[in-house]
Amino acid sequence: MSMIPEELVDQVRDGADLVGIIGETVELKRTGSDYRGPCPFHGGTHRNFAVIPKKGRYYCFVCHESGDVFSWFMKRVGMDYPTAVREVARRSGIVIPERAERAGPDPLEPLFGAAAVAQDWFTRQLVESADAAGAREYLQGRDIALDTAALHGLGYAPPGKAFLGAMAQLGLEQPVLVEAGLAAVRDDGSVVPRFRSRLLFPIHDLRGRVVGFGGRLLGPGEPKYLNSPESPIFHKGRQLYNLHQAKGPIRREETVILVEGYFDVLRLVLAGVEHVVAPLGTALTSDQATLLRRFAPTATLLYDSDQAGLRATFRAGDELLRHAVRVRVATMPPGEDPDTLVRRGGGAALEPILRDAIDLLERKLQLLEQKGWFEGVDHQREALDRLLPTIRAAADPLTRDLYLKEVAQRTGVSRETLVHQLADRQEPAAPAPTPGEAQRQPAGGGVPRSRPRPARRVDAAERDLLRVLIRERGWLERAVAEVPVEWFETAELREVYEALRRSPENTGSTLFLEQLSPGARRAYAWLDSIEAKYGAPDPDRTYVDACRTLEVRPLRRQLAALNRRIKEQDRVMTPEDFDALVLERARLTREIATRLPEELLKRSIRRGDVDAR
Ligand code: UTP
Ligand code: MN
Repeated sequence: MSMIPEELVDQVRDGADLVGIIGETVELKRTGSDYRGPCPFHGGTHRNFAVIPKKGRYYCFVCHESGDVFSWFMKRVGMDYPTAVREVARRSGIVIPERAERAGPDPLEPLFGAAAVAQDWFTRQLVESADAAGAREYLQGRDIALDTAALHGLGYAPPGKAFLGAMAQLGLEQPVLVEAGLAAVRDDGSVVPRFRSRLLFPIHDLRGRVVGFGGRLLGPGEPKYLNSPESPIFHKGRQLYNLHQAKGPIRREETVILVEGYFDVLRLVLAGVEHVVAPLGTALTSDQATLLRRFAPTATLLYDSDQAGLRATFRAGDELLRHAVRVRVATMPPGEDPDTLVRRGGGAALEPILRDAIDLLERKLQLLEQKGWFEGVDHQREALDRLLPTIRAAADPLTRDLYLKEVAQRTGVSRETLVHQLADRQEPAAPAPTPGEAQRQPAGGGVPRSRPRPARRVDAAERDLLRVLIRERGWLERAVAEVPVEWFETAELREVYEALRRSPENTGSTLFLEQLSPGARRAYAWLDSIEAKYGAPDPDRTYVDACRTLEVRPLRRQLAALNRRIKEQDRVMTPEDFDALVLERARLTREIATRLPEELLKRSIRRGDVDAR
């Protein structure tokens, strides 16, 4: 990071007299709320160069050069970023503390530079290149004028390697491009542009520097959006799309609107709704919630109203609540997203929807009620399971109190019981699990699935294994070496197994039985009696089958959890995360297969436990 504090940079930018500064060298005339003059970048003579004070930006309708007050000095005078900030600060009489200087030049500067140069080039491609005809048509098809797209820095990444050649000509070395996530090194050592044949949305950091891109395919295919990879300047979990432009409006409005996608943001901004941001292809993270809280105390979630959208809504909602942001949920008509809605009906179509937004918890209650979740004890229990995480998430004591009151009233469960329940189960570690931790269950959508399995249902493999061990001393001795006690999850059966291990010679004796708790003793008697009904198990087969089953049981669970995550959360994951999960799934499937004997494997595929793919 550059060493000038971010707040100070904001202050400098906000305080800059952009019209005055550009007016020093360009003859500007007022037209409406903007100023127009001949473009100094391409040396135009007509008034195609606009300075837009409200946005703090300039833009040329002919050559599409655009930027803010800092890029003005960088591009016109050749200053580096910190120098430009200093220059603007000096003109507004803002003092930047000396301390800022000492650390020397920002080591990330080359990466910011590469991203900025790339963005310029991509925009130019979009506007001018023959390759981009499809992209221009695509935009037109989505009702976005080319000028508008260029003004907002959209671009086009052509197919092939043209990008690398162009960057080389502009003096950018491949290692820098790779480090900035703009190019990738293939296994064979060749370098390819990261983005090919995609429409690009530039992603900026808080200071308005380009740090990455979100790239949409123009046609069908996967992934629909490809984002920049994590890099020293791009952190998808810590940045938000459009926050650099929206932060002023968010402060003014004292609230922020969260949408799911790039197009949603763009469409709202074009309709004059400026306090809007989107996460970068992942579920809203704790860091992003922290960031938003700095700018506004409340948020409105404006996500799709389908199942995936609702899940994402509640997940983001709980995250914001944990950071003491008050959350409201706006509900889209079915099948619409903010983009399609505003495209058709303009900002006016959005107004009633924002106005009718209701508190997050209220929305949950509403949905549960619609589904009849408050009828019947079973349902009520589940309804509570869905509500508790949201109450628990509320970091703001007042909100929490109101939630408790509301839920007590709606469910008829006393406040004391609710408070007790809240304390009872600690929140599962909140943030989105990473692919490597696939065994952990997702905290997705505020729908906890962590209800304990009923101990009543005895696991068949545990039962059969123990039956063999009770009868066959030889197998028991082998088990002592091979079967860890943890394989037994049924408490009573585990106890029996532990006793068997302790005193193999006494199995079944009074002495043996006396060590057992009443429950385990009953279990032992039961195991002992099964044979009368079903006959003795074949020890070889039973031992081996049961061991294999118990050994892979945790893997199977991981696999099931992984499948659930892939199904439930594909909409809120980046393609990279998605790919990682699919790879992890393949790995697990292979691992299970290598451990299971052939026959068992066939059986379990039939049951659908193991993903056969
Ligand atoms: P949607 O699939 O809802 O896309 O993803 P959208 O914004 O409506 O896109 P259009 O209108 O079809 O172009 C919402 C957001 O999720 C992320 C992107 O940030 C996208 O804007 N996303 C989606 C990805 O990161 N990768 C994907 O493959 C899909
Ligand atoms: Mn859309």
